[in-house]
Amino acid sequence: MSLISLLTFNELGDERGGLISLEQNKNIPFEIKRVYYIFGTQQDVARGFHAHKELQQVAICLKGSCCFLMDDGRNKAEVILDKSNMGILIDVMQWHEMYDFSDDCLLLVLASDYYDEADYIRNYNDFLGCIKNV
Ligand code: TYD
Repeated sequence: MSLISLLTFNELGDERGGLISLEQNKNIPFEIKRVYYIFGTQQDVARGFHAHKELQQVAICLKGSCCFLMDDGRNKAEVILDKSNMGILIDVMQWHEMYDFSDDCLLLVLASDYYDEADYIRNYNDFLGCIKNV
């Protein structure tokens, strides 16, 4: 599994403007059970700092930009999201941090399941412990 897995979505727009369609089990590689969006994040604020046991997510920066750090417990990699036709797959057991949000950043997240705090690993040492046991 590569650390940074970017998905590129077909642009269906025409002279009237842009249009991108997201479909579960098609260009989104799971059944979408939840959608949420992050906006108005201050520039000096970082978010995330967790991994998920079962949840898969795709994050798409619809407006502005933000930076993602992905960490599988062995390697870390960073990517800037600044295109509305591009998503990053946040797979299971990927520690992720988001930062450098532009003022206008609107980050859409599609998730494979309902919100469940029990699916979060919020402590980095716990995360490393889980990785070792895989
Ligand atoms: P969290 O996932 O920690 O945010 P981030 O990864 O962006 O830093 O969520 C922040 C709070 O919102 C936390 O108390 C859980 C709650 N929350 C929900 O109730 N439902 C949701 O779908 C999400 C994503 C978060």
